[in-house]
Amino acid sequence: MSGKDWSRVDGYLVSALQPPDPALDAALVDSDAAGLPQIAVAANQGKMLMLLAQSVGARRILEIGTLGGYSTIWLARALTADGKLVSLEYEAKHAEVARRNIARAGLAERVEVRVGRGVDLLPGVEGPIDFAFIDADKASNPEYFEGALRLSRPGALIVVDNVVRGGGVTDPAGDANIRGIRRMFELIAAEPRVEATAVQTVGAKGWDGFCLIRVKD
Ligand SMILES: C[S@@+](CC[C@H](N)C(=O)[O-])C[C@H]1O[C@@H](n2cnc3c(N)ncnc32)[C@H](O)[C@@H]1O
Repeated sequence: MSGKDWSRVDGYLVSALQPPDPALDAALVDSDAAGLPQIAVAANQGKMLMLLAQSVGARRILEIGTLGGYSTIWLARALTADGKLVSLEYEAKHAEVARRNIARAGLAERVEVRVGRGVDLLPGVEGPIDFAFIDADKASNPEYFEGALRLSRPGALIVVDNVVRGGGVTDPAGDANIRGIRRMFELIAAEPRVEATAVQTVGAKGWDGFCLIRVKD
């Protein structure tokens, strides 16, 4: 099996289970047109995020790493009627593209994109949150995990993306991103308030994986 096969299967799975979605498709097209990197979650992972957030009745969602708002739209759709999502993004240009995409999806009232470094913005985020999606610079994952945990209510879920990095996660001498992921795993393992697993994935976005953390009741 190669990357081409993984993409073909992803294409099949999405076409089998997910009808075309004009707002999400347009978000990707406009993000590309604006020159943003093509590193949004895949459509099937986006839907998984939505389903997970729905399963905890998410009223408050925190996202770190907005890019063009693709995952933001998936997550905001999971919110309860009175729900709100705050997304933190370092690049002002990404935030601007995201706000347009989010508005076109009819979610502007429920989503706030804040611009700055995630570690600087986190202390200003209001809790409690029901769901967090961590998908920014991986070197800061330890701080993002700790910040999301501090804000989380009992029973909240935290999902961290890109924790496998083509297998690089097993290298203790890896780059700053790998070291950030490994340090986060150490913190999670030593944290009695959570239970967690990590799952590797292949697909249209290559070989990677996510970590799923549940804050205990
Ligand atoms: C993988 S992309 C996010 C993709 C998005 N969650 C999606 O799936 O549609 C990572 C984003 O994190 C942003 N980022 C990088 N460093 C950051 C930091 N220190 N604080 C906040 N955002 C950061 C990048 O500019 C980029 O837009």
